[in-house]
Amino acid sequence: MTPQLDLPVAEYLNRDIKAIITEFPAVADILGRYDIGCVSCGLGTCLFKDVVAIHDLSAEEEAALMAGIAGILYPGRDVVIPATARQDRPKTVGTRYSPPLQKLVDEHGLIKRWVAIIPEFIENLDIATEAGRQEIRQGIDFIRSFADKYHHAKEEAILFKYFDESLDIIKIMCADHENARARVREMLAALERQDRETIATHLKAYRDLLTEHIKKEDEVLYRWMDRNLSTSQVGKLFAAFSEKDGEFGGAPKNYEDFIIHLEKKYKIMEVSK
Ligand SMILES: [Fe+2]
Ligand SMILES: [Fe+2]
Repeated sequence: MTPQLDLPVAEYLNRDIKAIITEFPAVADILGRYDIGCVSCGLGTCLFKDVVAIHDLSAEEEAALMAGIAGILYPGRDVVIPATARQDRPKTVGTRYSPPLQKLVDEHGLIKRWVAIIPEFIENLDIATEAGRQEIRQGIDFIRSFADKYHHAKEEAILFKYFDESLDIIKIMCADHENARARVREMLAALERQDRETIATHLKAYRDLLTEHIKKEDEVLYRWMDRNLSTSQVGKLFAAFSEKDGEFGGAPKNYEDFIIHLEKKYKIMEVSK
């Protein structure tokens, strides 16, 4: 059957890939050749223009994929679908991550900025005033909400599910998360009884824990995971992370604002990501 749609290229690029597949089922076959499983992906929230970037194809693969899809969307016409801006980037090797793991590395960037603030934060713990206690509460909330409920939960509930969770490296990461949760509980209890020293002790331990934890994830775990995830899984991960981001709305930005506020207050330069 001849497809009824014949939109400008830019309109196709901004449509959900699943809508395009529904209209042009042969597109799924082309995507399947590159192990891009949009048909089997339950989410299907990605725009066509994002699909190539998310799945980390080489320039050659991308050009061939786009030519194949152009042949389906515009049969018998000489239409070229433009390459993404990422075309000249090599596939995931060496120093870079796949797009979903890069998201997690970027989140580590904000946690590392908080970790860099902790020594000054400890120096200035003001347990005696309500304003001081409020700032301590906000610091603990950053750990509990941004670092744990937002970031660690993405790892545990989504990313780690793609691997054998009985592997030591994953068990160690989960144990670190539990360790951080225990320290949050201790800090909240200490805040209740206005115990400055205990809060300082756990903040210092959290700083040491997360410094090592993030290093292990950035330098070892994520790289190994990237080498073992299929192209299709990378796409599914990206979609699942995007859905999780949607649930949190503007909250991550509020936590970044809190970190910026502390960096200005303590005149701390933003640490590199
Ligand atoms: Fe982690
Ligand atoms: Fe992490």
